[in-house]
Amino acid sequence: MARLVGISGSLRKGSFNTALLRAATGLVPDGSSLEVRTLHGVPLYNGDDEASTGIPAPVQALKEAIAAADGVLLVTPEYNNSIPGVFKNGVDWISRPPADLKRIFAGRPFGVIGASPGGFGTILSQAAWLPVLRHVGANLWTGGRLQVAKANTVFDQEGTLTDDQIKEQLRAYIAGFVAFVDRP
Ligand SMILES: Cc1cc2nc3c(=O)[nH]c(=O)nc-3n(C[C@H](O)[C@H](O)[C@H](O)COP(=O)(O)O)c2cc1C
Repeated sequence: MARLVGISGSLRKGSFNTALLRAATGLVPDGSSLEVRTLHGVPLYNGDDEASTGIPAPVQALKEAIAAADGVLLVTPEYNNSIPGVFKNGVDWISRPPADLKRIFAGRPFGVIGASPGGFGTILSQAAWLPVLRHVGANLWTGGRLQVAKANTVFDQEGTLTDDQIKEQLRAYIAGFVAFVDRP
């Protein structure tokens, strides 16, 4: 039984990654849950702002959601073969201040999945997350993979996941991640 929080790295209304995260909420094993979060409202990181006004409220809310969860799922788009700036900026904010790194990241279960209309399904942005997650000390689950390629063909106009094969892959990924989070 795990309480998960997922963060979509896209701000788009029609985001494939947010749609993937929403689809995952319906596929979690009985007794577990997955809360959907996005980065709306997170400002650009500026050390001067942090020094003068501290952690912005939307960032603090994300941090507390992560702290309260048993596991965190990053649902990442890919821009120019790497992490979109919006998502990296969000996680950079979440990693502040360093004194809080342990509470938010250290040894805590994280998973990474993603969707792209291209043929490689965010493989390079998922790879780009590796040094970031290692740096903050997250406990990345590497037992499963989900790279949704041709994402424009697997959701309908409302963002519902309609591809049965991807649905089963997503279900298997979430089940594996929950088992990882739950392990004694
Ligand atoms: C600046 C930019 C760069 C992109 N670079 C890539 C890329 O390197 N690889 C890829 O698969 N898709 C790339 N795309 C396409 C995105 O995968 C696509 O816009 C996708 O829908 C973004 O995710 P979202 O639907 O969750 O917003 C790029 C899109 C933008 C705007």
